[in-house]
Amino acid sequence: MKHTDIKTVLSDADMVGLDAVVCGWVRTFRDSAQVAFLELSDGTSFEKLQVVIDKTSLTPDPECTKLGASVVVAGKVVKAYKGEGNELNAERLSLLGKCPPEYPIQKKRQTLEYLRGIPHLRLRTNTFQAAFRVRSVAAQAVHRYFHAHGYYYINAPLITASDCEGAGEMFRVTTQPWNAKYASEEEYYKNDFFGVKAGLSVSGQLEGEVAATALGKIYTFGPSFRAENSNTTRHLAEFWHIEPEIAFAELPDVIEIAEDLLKYLIRAVLTECPAEIKFFDSFVEKGLLEKLNHVANSSFAVCTYTEAVAILEQQNARFQFPVHWGSDLQSEHEKYLTEEVFKRPVFVTDYPKEIKSFYMKQNADGKTVAATDLLVPGIGEIIGGSEREADYEKLTAAMKERGMDMAAYKQYLDLRLFGSVPHGGFGLGFERFVMYCTGMENIRDVTLFPRSVKNIM
Ligand code: 4AD
Ligand code: MG
Repeated sequence: MKHTDIKTVLSDADMVGLDAVVCGWVRTFRDSAQVAFLELSDGTSFEKLQVVIDKTSLTPDPECTKLGASVVVAGKVVKAYKGEGNELNAERLSLLGKCPPEYPIQKKRQTLEYLRGIPHLRLRTNTFQAAFRVRSVAAQAVHRYFHAHGYYYINAPLITASDCEGAGEMFRVTTQPWNAKYASEEEYYKNDFFGVKAGLSVSGQLEGEVAATALGKIYTFGPSFRAENSNTTRHLAEFWHIEPEIAFAELPDVIEIAEDLLKYLIRAVLTECPAEIKFFDSFVEKGLLEKLNHVANSSFAVCTYTEAVAILEQQNARFQFPVHWGSDLQSEHEKYLTEEVFKRPVFVTDYPKEIKSFYMKQNADGKTVAATDLLVPGIGEIIGGSEREADYEKLTAAMKERGMDMAAYKQYLDLRLFGSVPHGGFGLGFERFVMYCTGMENIRDVTLFPRSVKNIM
C-alpha cells in the first residue's frame, strides 16, 4: 500500500502543503461540533500524528474512531496548529481493521505485570514501543561500533557439544522419543541425533576464540541459552549476547574496550532516541537522562575482588549473605558496590579462580584469575569477561581440577598448541544493557517473548 511513514509526515518541513496517505492505529479520538481529532501511531516514531477532520466536509465512520482500530487517511500536510511539526488535514478516511471494545489495551495506564500477560499486544503501548525502539537502535550501534573498529562479525553455532561456562545450565537438544529406554547414558546419547550429548550454547566464546586466533578481532551477537532455575528480574532462559574476542589483548585491554563500547552504545541511544529517553526519564526512571549523559562522559571505576571484599566485609551486618574472601558476590553485594560505594559503573577484577570459569587466565598469585565483571547501578552485573588462559599446561591443569572431559575440548586446546597468543574478551547481556538505558526494571519487559522457568507464552 503506497503511504508515507508518520515519522516523515510529522517532521519533514518539505511535506507541508503536499498530499499524503498515512496508515496507522488509532490512539485517541476527540470530537466536537465542527472538528474531530484522531491521533495515529504507525510505530515509526514516538510522537503520534494528529489527523484533523473537518466535519462539515467529512463524516468519520464511527469504527475509524475506536481505540486500536487501523485506518488509512489521505489528506494535506499542514504545519501543526499548536506545537512543533506537522499534522494532517483529512480528506478521506477509511477503515483497515476494526477494533472492538474488548481490546485488552486501554487508554488508561495499565500495569507492566498485566501487559506481560498479553505479550502479543503490549507493543502497542508507548512504553513498549519506546523500549523496542531503543533496543533496535542499540543493536544497530553494536554492529556499527565493531565494524568501525575492525572487528569481524562471527556467527557461533547455537547447538553445541561443549559447555563454555561449565555451570551445568545447558538445555539439552534431542530427538529421542520421550519413552526411549537404553541400558546406559552413553548408549542413550549414541542413539540420539548427533550421537553425543548436545545442547544449546550458553555462550559463543569458545568458537569466538577460534575465530579471534585467526582473524584477530571478532564479535558475536546472537542468542545464548541458560537453563537457570532463577526467576529473577535479570535472568532469561534465552537472552541476546554480545561477545567480542580479541587476539593479543590482556585484561586491561579487555576493560578498555568494554568501557568504550558501552559509552558508544549509550551515546547512540541518546542521539537517536531522544523522545524515548525523555519518556523513560519522565515515567520510568527519574534522572535517567542525566545518568546516561554522566556515564557516557566519565570514567568507570576499577577495583580488585580482594579490595571489594574488604569494603563489603565492613558491611556484612546489612547483607543476607555475609561476604568473605572466596565467596561469590551476590546481587546484593554487587548493587551495594556500584550504587553505594562507587556510585557509577565499576569493573571488579581478579576473582578467586574457584568461583570463575576454567578458561580464565591464572594470575601469578596462584589464587586469582584475570577476570572482570562490570557492575552498574540498578542492575548489577552487565558484563562478564576475562583474559583467557593461553598456556596449554595451565589450562589442562584447571580442566583436570574440574573433572572436565578433555576429549570434548580438543579443538579448544589446539589453539594453545599452535601459535598460542594472549587473548581475551567479554560478554555483554544485551537485554541488561537495554534495561540500563531505559530504566525498565524487569528483563521480561525489554524482551519480545521472554522465556524463563515455567514461562514460554
Ligand atoms: O558472565 P557470563 O556468564 O560470561 C560468559 O558467558 C562469557 N563466556 C562471556 C565472554 O567472556 N565472552 O555472561 C555474560 C553476560 C552477563 O554479564 C549478563 O549480562 C548476561 O551475559 N547474562 C544474562 N542475561 C540474561 N539472562 C541470563 N540468564 C544471563 N546470563 C548471563
Ligand atoms: Mg558472569
